[in-house]
Amino acid sequence: MDNQTSYIIGTDDHSELKTYSGRKYHDNEKVAYLLPEDSDESSRLNKQHLVLRYFLQKNFIAPIDKQLEEGITVLDSGCGPASWLFDMAKDYPKSKFHGVDITNTFPEEAKLENCEFVLGNIGERIPFPDNTFDYVHQRLLLLGLTKEMWEKNIKELFRVLKPGGCIEIKEPDLRDLCNMGPLLNSLQGTLSSMLASRGMPLKISVELEGRLTDAGFENIDHSILNLNLNHNGRVGDMLWDDYYHGCMNIRPVMAITNPAYEDLEAYKVFLNECSAEAAELKTDIQWHTCIAKKPLN
Ligand SMILES: C[S@@+](CC[C@H](N)C(=O)[O-])C[C@H]1O[C@@H](n2cnc3c(N)ncnc32)[C@H](O)[C@@H]1O
Repeated sequence: MDNQTSYIIGTDDHSELKTYSGRKYHDNEKVAYLLPEDSDESSRLNKQHLVLRYFLQKNFIAPIDKQLEEGITVLDSGCGPASWLFDMAKDYPKSKFHGVDITNTFPEEAKLENCEFVLGNIGERIPFPDNTFDYVHQRLLLLGLTKEMWEKNIKELFRVLKPGGCIEIKEPDLRDLCNMGPLLNSLQGTLSSMLASRGMPLKISVELEGRLTDAGFENIDHSILNLNLNHNGRVGDMLWDDYYHGCMNIRPVMAITNPAYEDLEAYKVFLNECSAEAAELKTDIQWHTCIAKKPLN
């Protein structure tokens, strides 16, 4: 970590950011998020959405196509720059979409009529009344919530969902990649140590099913899809580009746990060696999806 730390105080309680290596990060008790908040990261998230849609061939897998066409109320929790939300709002104009996030990177200028954004901390309280939504979607919060925050978050998702409503949560397993070689194992090991030191779960993807059961959800369907990291043609290349970009964006925070990552050029060489290793061993990231229902009573 360099010593160029500064504070930017915004208008809401959670917008205190620190600058490490020229990038702005959350760094306070109420927000555990480890990726930066800036336009480069928003652009990565937009591209990542396209990669995931390409792999999955769909934006969602819950059996709710008909309801979405007829018109329902949807929440995207931790929506980021609204890539998923805007895609869905375009595809289903009769449904009403809401996004909530700790940071406002919502592109107001491109906003659709059936899409709204609200600031909020999903690890504390989702700013909507009980029983508001027919469908709640949450994706890629593994670098955002501590164990306690996950507990509150899942209770909150349950609370804001209508009885009979449907939830879809998606998280990758970044601790145990399939066919992982020693270089990626060391990189993922550093990430895991950093998560552990901050009280964040290492394998939230495999815990989701149990956590949803404990919160009272029923009819839980847990599926796993293998995403090819730097093999299997264009799709594997796209996933590697996103993985590399994510590793670059988290580097200043990772360097707190592993000071070797402070040397940017050495880190890039290391990532390129990881890239070759992933291609050779055909490494996959497992993408977990849990779909569940809130009981009718
Ligand atoms: C990796 S991004 C994923 C964004 C989006 N879900 C997607 O799949 O494209 C994680 C998002 O969660 C948001 N986030 C992290 N911690 C949060 C919290 N405690 N409350 C609300 N949003 C949070 C971040 O600001 C970021 O936009």
